Amino acid sequence: MQFSYTQDQQDIRAKVREFALTKMEPTSEERDEFERFDRDIFDSIGELGWSGIPWSQRFGGGGSDFLTYAMVIEELSRVCASTGVMLSVHTSLASWAIHTYGTDAQKQTYLFPMAQGKKLGAYCLTESESGSDAGAMRTTATKEGDAYVLNGSKLFVTNGGEAEVYIVFAVSDAQNKQKGTTAFIVEKGMEGLIFGTKENKLGIRSSTTMELRFEDCRVPADNRLGPEGEGFRIAMRSLDGGRIGIAAQATGIGQGALDALVAYQEQYGVRRSELFDASFSEMASHIEGARLLTYQAAWRKSKGLSYGKQAAIAKLFASDMAVKVCLRAVQLCGVWGCLKESKVERYLRDAKVTQIYEGTNEIQRIVISRLLLSETT
Ligand code: CAA
Repeated sequence: MQFSYTQDQQDIRAKVREFALTKMEPTSEERDEFERFDRDIFDSIGELGWSGIPWSQRFGGGGSDFLTYAMVIEELSRVCASTGVMLSVHTSLASWAIHTYGTDAQKQTYLFPMAQGKKLGAYCLTESESGSDAGAMRTTATKEGDAYVLNGSKLFVTNGGEAEVYIVFAVSDAQNKQKGTTAFIVEKGMEGLIFGTKENKLGIRSSTTMELRFEDCRVPADNRLGPEGEGFRIAMRSLDGGRIGIAAQATGIGQGALDALVAYQEQYGVRRSELFDASFSEMASHIEGARLLTYQAAWRKSKGLSYGKQAAIAKLFASDMAVKVCLRAVQLCGVWGCLKESKVERYLRDAKVTQIYEGTNEIQRIVISRLLLSETT
């Protein structure tokens, strides 16, 4: 592993920083307040070539790697974590699944426009009775002629309602638990796909989180993603990569809170103290630790090495770090830290969510310990 960045990585980081400050920052508070998803931001990200960074140019992507991708998510989230998760779910979960398991036709129809930023992706796993226990899902897929008929509902779908492409997991063989689960590509506009309630959330408020219902939703058999019965593995493998995105997002949130604290100190002429210096240094050290863990997992993924354990460790550490750093930033900003205009109160709310989604941190501990034990037995 090299501890230096390529010129391309440095350039892209600088460009994303500039984009985030000029295009996202001015509306970040208002979008958070009114839970406003801004499609223009995704469109611009697509035009700048960042909606398919790790995919080859053949599939409309940027031909780069997962480390560069993690840096982009981090820099976006440093200013607006809602944009970070929007792009992370689009890339790590939805596009990755099609890139890895899709047929050539599926890649042309879905991955290409997704990588170009023309279509937004979403990932539908969680249900009312199956959150952490993902294998307990009840949405069914029944084969009828040249189609599968989907019935059931999915909860907490990031990009729900806004996305054009949904990766949906459903039970196609109830006798076989996880091995009876199959993945599908469902398109916005397919009959029987119904958008439900949009959630009113604590954090990442300008990303949409929505319930989806499937009422006799006929999905062409050509839209089955991967073999029948492979759905649970696809879901789990997607989440391994998704956790790198969330770790990068949490790292960006921590850095953003630190930036806001420094700005507060400068703006209000708050005198430096030993307490400030000690807190500032500790926060910066924890952020750097999260960054390195995140980059390690992303680097391993790019190199074709196993990365599930490293991704779960990075997600666990970075999300806990983000909450601690944001709490400290709010405390050090005093009453100002409790005001909307301080930004740190938004960062704190956003940070909390990273401990919960894409597998709660309790689930990360299970994943990590299982993988550690499998290495030693
Ligand atoms: N890669 C490949 N295969 C995997 C795998 C992985 N990471 N994890 C599990 N599998 C395979 C296992 O090898 C096993 O296959 P075999 O039977 O052939 O050996 C099979 O899948 C079942 O695995 P487990 O026995 O480990 O399954 P489990 O029921 O015990 O569950 C779990 C494991 C880790 C707890 C899992 O349910 C889980 O990850 N839960 C959390 C779900 C989650 O993260 N949800 C977040 C939703 S997305 C989100 O938040 C959205 C957002 O939009 C931001």
